[in-house]
Amino acid sequence: MEQFEEDLVEALKDVVKAGSWQCVGDAAKFKSPCTKFYADDGEHIVLVRTEEGRFWAMDSSCPHEGGPLDQGDIEDLGDGKLALICPWHYFDFSLETGSSSTGLQNQVYDVRVVDGKVYINTQSTLSCYPVPVTKTVKMDVLSPVEIKSASSENTLCFWATKILCTPDPKEKVALTKDVQRWWHTGKITEIGECAPPNQPSRMDSLTVVEPGKIKRGKGGTQASRVALLHSLANIEQWAIDVSWDIIARFSSVQLSTGDSMPQEFFSDFVKVAGDEAKHYDLLEERIKELGSSFGTLPVHNGLWQSATETSHNLLARLAIVHMVHEARGLDVHPQTLSRFAAQGDTNSVKILKVIYTDEITHVAAGLRWFTYICSKEGRDCLTTFHDLVKLHFKGYLKPPFNTEGRMTAGMTEEWYVPLVKPSS
Ligand code: FES
Ligand SMILES: [Fe+2]
Ligand SMILES: [Fe+2]
Repeated sequence: MEQFEEDLVEALKDVVKAGSWQCVGDAAKFKSPCTKFYADDGEHIVLVRTEEGRFWAMDSSCPHEGGPLDQGDIEDLGDGKLALICPWHYFDFSLETGSSSTGLQNQVYDVRVVDGKVYINTQSTLSCYPVPVTKTVKMDVLSPVEIKSASSENTLCFWATKILCTPDPKEKVALTKDVQRWWHTGKITEIGECAPPNQPSRMDSLTVVEPGKIKRGKGGTQASRVALLHSLANIEQWAIDVSWDIIARFSSVQLSTGDSMPQEFFSDFVKVAGDEAKHYDLLEERIKELGSSFGTLPVHNGLWQSATETSHNLLARLAIVHMVHEARGLDVHPQTLSRFAAQGDTNSVKILKVIYTDEITHVAAGLRWFTYICSKEGRDCLTTFHDLVKLHFKGYLKPPFNTEGRMTAGMTEEWYVPLVKPSS
């Protein structure tokens, strides 16, 4: 009887699995190597067709930093096994298993061709066109208060806005360091009020494109290292702006208790801005040592898009920018480090280690102020976080997680594991 029940369970599993095969069209119509399918849950899929006419499928957003794998190249890694190479930093993902030599893992899906039609095994509904997202979670928002008066020069907000409007990254960094010093030495004591710009300024010479639109040329190992350092420097430049933006935009926010955010909140983000400025400096210098310069490659504005998406709500901003994106930075650190170490680039390794130590404190700051607000307002921290991430972050969180780094920042697994895609 027991055996019968087990068989029945197995048979039912097969039926459930069979129900999730989706036909995506005639095999003959897939002429190009990569075709992107949009999924209703935001986890889009790339269908890969090899020269021999075999089909494979995996998540189209790179587990590293979300690069567009649907614009990647297919390469033989030398062992006869094919991999999809991300166009952003050239990480490889095996078509068969989704594993990468960098240690990252992408989700793969079974593909079958039956009667000339291609089927992908996924629970999501796929479409050739972007699916409009219906947002269902509603939350009270901690919106910034509308500011009418311009801020005086003696306030933190005046300088935050000035830095946001400074296009030259070198000047942005220098001014950030000055303001950090003035804040610490008491030259600036007031927070003030001001309306930050919708978009921080960038040099005209810098090509900023939507995330997903960057396609870099192929390069040798040095070129790929420069590309990686360049992309990190770009993220640091946005991170400086995001830190000043949270200060200026939420300077007058009021909690439901009627309280304002305490002085330490602003001090924490002045420190984060100072760290990001230091990181940008270190990376820019290293890029120069390697014979290139910042601005020679196109950059994306993904971090700013998340800032814009959360500009109406302080809790959402802390959750998405600091507890999702910055925590993701901790996750990919070991792989990035080993990539530079494998090529004997010890100078870059030293810089990455400095950045990593600081970034742990940034995740900790996000977590500290998120839990502060939740406890003041009587909200359940974990439920609030999970709801906000589902509402504002596209797709699921992807393992592997840097459990140790996250733990050092105070972020235990209960925060992020429930946001991973359930296995089908
Ligand atoms: S985003 Fe794909 S390798 Fe970095
Ligand atoms: Fe940083
Ligand atoms: Fe940071």
